[in-house]
Amino acid sequence: MRTYRNQDLIVYWKPEKCIHVGYCIRNLPSVFNVKKRPWIDINGAPPEEIIKVIDICPSGALLYSLPEGSRVDPDLGKGPGSLHYHCEDLQVEVRLLKDGPILIKGPSVLFDESGALLKTDDNLCLCRCGKSKNPPFCDGSHR
Ligand code: FES
Repeated sequence: MRTYRNQDLIVYWKPEKCIHVGYCIRNLPSVFNVKKRPWIDINGAPPEEIIKVIDICPSGALLYSLPEGSRVDPDLGKGPGSLHYHCEDLQVEVRLLKDGPILIKGPSVLFDESGALLKTDDNLCLCRCGKSKNPPFCDGSHR
């Protein structure tokens, strides 16, 4: 997991979880730009805007937290993209992406065909195109 930080926000990126939906680069290119290195410029927009975009990242590849002393409203830092986010009602959301994976948001435990534990996570992206090189997880190959 890579981290990007400033005084008000810490952004975490888990590249292995990215399914390349592109919400981040389309909604906030001043921060998320794959043509630049590093591709995340945490000073490219106010932290509140970065939080809004990360909250809609469906894969959980992008997360954030507020460092001590952050000037961001603490309530804003509790969204679904927060590193410490937990579904308080334990509701699990299952979403089918058009021509893409199955997204499962919420505390989940995934077992394989033999019943062996594969993964425990709050964000699972499962391949349904059959092209993933890391089945049963989506790796973006559906594009
Ligand atoms: S659905 Fe993404 S790799 Fe298959």
